Amino acid sequence: MKIATCLVVAAVLAMGAADVSAADLGTAEKTYATVCANCHGRSGQGMASFPKLAGKDADYIAARLKAYRAGEKVGPNTPLMTPHAAKLTDEQIAGLAAYVSTTFK
Ligand code: HEC
Repeated sequence: MKIATCLVVAAVLAMGAADVSAADLGTAEKTYATVCANCHGRSGQGMASFPKLAGKDADYIAARLKAYRAGEKVGPNTPLMTPHAAKLTDEQIAGLAAYVSTTFK
C-alpha cells in the first residue's frame, strides 16, 4: 500500500501542477482577469478566433503556454498569443494552468 501511495504522489508531482501555491493561484486570477480575459473571455469561454480555455486540463494549458513562450507556431493566430506568454515564468504558467483548469469547467 505504501509503495502504491508513493507512486501516486510521484505521478502527481511529475505532472507539475501539484505544487502551485495559493499565492500563485491568486496572482493567476488577477493576471487572467486583467490580461487573458480580454481575449479568452471572463469565464474562459473564448470568442471568435480566441480559443475556449474552459474544460481544458492543466497539463494541456501549461504545455501550450510553454510552446507560445518558446516562440513556436501553434495555430493560425499564434502571433496574437505569443506576446502574452513571452514573459511568463514557470510558476506563472503553472498558476495560470491550475487556475483556468479548476475555475472554468
Ligand atoms: C490578444 C488576445 C489574447 C490574449 C490577451 C491572450 N490570448 Fe491566449 N490565445 C489567443 C489566440 C488568438 C490564441 C490562438 C493562437 C493560435 O492560433 O495558435 C490563443 C491561444 C491560447 C491557448 C491555447 C489554446 C488551445 O486550445 O490550444 C492558451 C492555453 C492561452 N491562449 C492562454 C492564455 C492565457 C493564460 C492568457 C493570459 C496570460 C492569454 N492566453 C492571453 C489570444 C490571446
